[in-house]
Amino acid sequence: MLKLPQRPRRLRRTEAIRAMTREATLTVDDLIYPVFVMEGENQKQEIPSMPDCFRYTPDLLLEELHTVSQMGIKAVALFPLIPPEKKDNEGKESYNPEGLIQSTVRRIKKELPQLFVITDVALDPYSIYGHDGIVRDGEIVNDETVEVLVKMALSHAEAGADMVAPSDMMDGRVGAIRQALDAEGWINVGILAYSAKYASAYYGPFRDALDSAPQFGDKKTYQMDIANAREALKEVALDIAEGADIVMVKPALAYLDVIRRIKDNTFTPVAAYNVSGEYAMIKAASQKGWLEENQVILETLTSIKRAGADLIITYFAKQIAPLLPR
Ligand code: PBG
Repeated sequence: MLKLPQRPRRLRRTEAIRAMTREATLTVDDLIYPVFVMEGENQKQEIPSMPDCFRYTPDLLLEELHTVSQMGIKAVALFPLIPPEKKDNEGKESYNPEGLIQSTVRRIKKELPQLFVITDVALDPYSIYGHDGIVRDGEIVNDETVEVLVKMALSHAEAGADMVAPSDMMDGRVGAIRQALDAEGWINVGILAYSAKYASAYYGPFRDALDSAPQFGDKKTYQMDIANAREALKEVALDIAEGADIVMVKPALAYLDVIRRIKDNTFTPVAAYNVSGEYAMIKAASQKGWLEENQVILETLTSIKRAGADLIITYFAKQIAPLLPR
């Protein structure tokens, strides 16, 4: 017999001791459920590259949100499908007080006031070019875009959003939004900043869902280079200084190191976005019978939590909530 002062397997012998010594526990409280809303009534459309994910008209979305709320899910992130005739270069529809997002937020807060509503602030669903900002001479212009983002954020606050989430990666937008919200008296409306958002190929299915793929070029002049991690700390530091309440890394899986570095270098909560392409990979392999779906989802989300994420935006939220402690 070996004489070993340490036998790590002693702490793995039974489920009881494994549970007692477990380092990270995923719970329903960690989840934010992203949902797609479209105009109309009594319709839902499955997104082909995102099996089991639907775009809902507001009435059916409300039903869906009643269900997920009963499951213990506390927050949703809303994304709109905007019909082509309402798109332009300046994203004017994005701050229409009667727009799809604004009216949907009002309905949600009326029927489900306890559900925490997060709205996306970026121009891409509203842009004829599918870019997150205004295009002038082939460039995505920063400061003019920020003015529109501020109007959008204010219209979401007026509609009752609990938190706005700028996902556009324009410089200075968090500070501009914070100042405008405060000036209008919305001091309790928070900002979830997409601080380290990478120019990733994992967003493909989401752009199918919203019909928002860039019509020319790519997003590399505003979203981060996939090879950079120190730059993420710079973006996070700026966003916190400008007033972000929560900072986010996106995508999650290919950037677990970035999540950890941010967690170790900040005092705000850290969120991670388990994006559409990460969802599609697991769904596609599971449909082929190549992976045990729920086990892979649990392992994936736990890895994001272990890396340091306090919150996870995930399309798996509804599917996985029943398997998690509340
Ligand atoms: C756009 C936005 C994107 C996502 C969230 N907000 C796509 C993009 O930047 O092109 C992607 C989400 C996902 O892939 O699940 N501002």
